[in-house]
Amino acid sequence: MKQPKKNKKLKPPVSRPSTLSSALFARAERVIPGGVNSPVRAFRAVGGDPVFMARGAGAQVWSVDGRAYLDFCGSWGPLILGHAHPEVVAAVQKTAADGMSFGACTAHEVEIAELLRSCASYLEKVRLVSSGTEAVMSALRLARGFTGRNKVLKFEGCYHGHSDCLLVAAGSGLLTGGVASSAGVTPGAAADTFVLPYNDLKAVRELVGRAGHELAAIIVEPVAGNMGLVPPLPGYLAGLRKLAKQCGAVLIFDEVITGFRFGPTTYGQLIGITPDLTCLGKIMGGGMPMGAFGGRADIMDHLAPLGRVYQAGTLSGNPVAVTAGLKTIEILRRDKPYARMEKLAAQLAAGFNAAARRHGVTAHCAQLGSLFTPFFTTAPIRDLTDAKRCDTAAFGRFFHGMLEQGLYLPPAQFEAAFVSAAHTADHIAQFLAAAERALAAR
Ligand SMILES: Cc1ncc(COP(=O)(O)O)c(C=O)c1O
Repeated sequence: MKQPKKNKKLKPPVSRPSTLSSALFARAERVIPGGVNSPVRAFRAVGGDPVFMARGAGAQVWSVDGRAYLDFCGSWGPLILGHAHPEVVAAVQKTAADGMSFGACTAHEVEIAELLRSCASYLEKVRLVSSGTEAVMSALRLARGFTGRNKVLKFEGCYHGHSDCLLVAAGSGLLTGGVASSAGVTPGAAADTFVLPYNDLKAVRELVGRAGHELAAIIVEPVAGNMGLVPPLPGYLAGLRKLAKQCGAVLIFDEVITGFRFGPTTYGQLIGITPDLTCLGKIMGGGMPMGAFGGRADIMDHLAPLGRVYQAGTLSGNPVAVTAGLKTIEILRRDKPYARMEKLAAQLAAGFNAAARRHGVTAHCAQLGSLFTPFFTTAPIRDLTDAKRCDTAAFGRFFHGMLEQGLYLPPAQFEAAFVSAAHTADHIAQFLAAAERALAAR
């Protein structure tokens, strides 16, 4: 299996990141593979060295040598309230002072399970885990244990974490790293996974007709965020719901990005489509390592200790992580920042599109709610084949043009960017002024 390579088409960035960042990266490369603990952080998709961050507050982050950036990455989605929200920090400090972990039951876990159920009525039972990957991996095992079947259907360009059978035609860092899959995944694990294009219901209908009886699960990002932002076409998710029911497969919505992103609930609940299981992460952990999976009680009750599907975790339901999630969800329900975030993101996308037109740049900004992606193509993007037509070198130049002006975006074309509740109209104006210059300079 080929290793991800630096994109040769990319010019070296005009100015390199701060010396302190570069020095830290050089140290990191000696002791951490690739210098990073998650591949896309390494800036390989855009060239140059990553910026090391020291702190954040609201919509801003500061690098290790004190340079301020306006942040549209938001830790890849969790920080919907912005960095270091005072109420979240205070709640976390209070809980941490009472003990970091017990490996025993706590009231916090019951509170968040009840809260999740009150946010999305179909989350009849949930189990807490420590990451999105773990949530998806566990939900799949459960679907297999429940149905007694082995095969899983996923969609090209959707990323569901790094468990073996899902590292097939995955998005996010696997796209930008130039690997369609991963070494170390056994042919057996890959063979259990069917992969079809996103947004293509006809292909699913055909597969279900042929092999529906083998399918344990159909798993989908209800709004794809890992090939850049790609919303579902009208009728697509309802069609998946119908087909999964028809063949007896468990329909899993991977809402690790979308959960609590479009409203204080799941995307499924918002659009009135009920999956059998839902995976959560990112926002529901309030910036701490936490995820969850849940849904139909009759399926969830197949988990140990009630049932025969084993799933466990020393730090599952960790009180400090749960507190961050509880407080974040509580604030989202109280403050309802969604309409304002959406308005800001729509202004950003419209402004970007106008600037691209003015400067004759082949690009457009996709946007849904507070998610957006500046795609370097003018063709609409409905699936991975469309996304791959983007000019990734042009994205890299845009990224560095923005970074030099103090704007921090996800460092790869095939990612969603995030407007948070901490962003203001002034921040959007700053983004657009910087984008105007970055697009003009090309
Ligand atoms: C849709 C989706 N599912 C699962 C995951 C994996 O989550 P984690 O990185 O917390 O393991 C991600 C991560 O970006 C994701 O976007």
